[in-house]
Amino acid sequence: MVAQLFRKDALKFLSELPSNSADLIISSPPYCMGKEYDTHCTIEDFIEIHEHMRDELVRVLKRGGSICWQIGHHVSNNVVVPLDAVAYSVFSKSKKLKLRNRIIWTFGHGAHCRKRFSGRHESVLWFTKGSVYRFSLDAVRVPQKYPGKRHHKGPKQGEPSGNPLGKNPGDVWEIPNVKSNHVEKTAHPCQFPVTLAQRLVKALCPRGGLVVDPFLGSGSTAIAALLEGRRFMGCDIEPKYVRIAQSRIDDFNAGLSKVRPLDRPIHVPRAGDGVAQIPEEWLSGRSRRISVLAK
Ligand SMILES: C[S@@+](CC[C@H](N)C(=O)[O-])C[C@H]1O[C@@H](n2cnc3c(N)ncnc32)[C@H](O)[C@@H]1O
Repeated sequence: MVAQLFRKDALKFLSELPSNSADLIISSPPYCMGKEYDTHCTIEDFIEIHEHMRDELVRVLKRGGSICWQIGHHVSNNVVVPLDAVAYSVFSKSKKLKLRNRIIWTFGHGAHCRKRFSGRHESVLWFTKGSVYRFSLDAVRVPQKYPGKRHHKGPKQGEPSGNPLGKNPGDVWEIPNVKSNHVEKTAHPCQFPVTLAQRLVKALCPRGGLVVDPFLGSGSTAIAALLEGRRFMGCDIEPKYVRIAQSRIDDFNAGLSKVRPLDRPIHVPRAGDGVAQIPEEWLSGRSRRISVLAK
């Protein structure tokens, strides 16, 4: 399958794509928090970028196609703004876009906050262009928790009640985020995992269809598209990220791509693992505290 990458501004890139050409747009825009790739720093900037892009995204998308917008939170001085709420208010001004899901992506690792609960989720807003849209649920079903359940009454009494292909994965997805020891980690500071995009590609884009990402970053969406036999076009304003994405694609084409599979269980530390043990010093401290409480 073909993947085409461009070093360009997202809006310019979109403006050069033909109307009704993309089956699926998956992207994670800058959060406007002054990250190394972020030239904008405020919520007002975030709104402005989205207002400028909305109509171009809709124009480029095929009728029945989908936009999946992956975003987290804008945090400044411990004040949190959920960016999906902001993006929703901008995108929903288009009469053509209909929100189908707000998918919660949850993960176990991140910064340890001292003045609020540590953030362990971001989200994906899934919009479709129009009311008739593609959703291949069977392509993304997951194993049931109780596959042996049976109808206990009615005409199907005694027959298995689940779907033999598995169940709907729901709208809360636990997928490890890409931290330093993750197999997919590149020099990009904010990658999302390939499988986050891969499930969306399978469900929302036909085989051979076109997936677009105007904020390419390290190319995670491109790898997801290629893995699933879809075409890809994307851009990033930073040449170094386009180079990283291109080298991941080259690795993919050489059969060297490293992706953490979606069905790999989340690591649970075993009691015997050194780092899973409660340190001896804490144990004695804890027993001291408990004995004080007991008095
Ligand atoms: C959150 S990151 C995307 C990460 C990507 N999803 C991945 O998995 O690697 C946002 C990207 O947008 C790029 N970017 C920022 N402003 C841009 C603009 N005006 N046009 C195109 N890309 C831009 C940044 O360089 C950054 O790589």
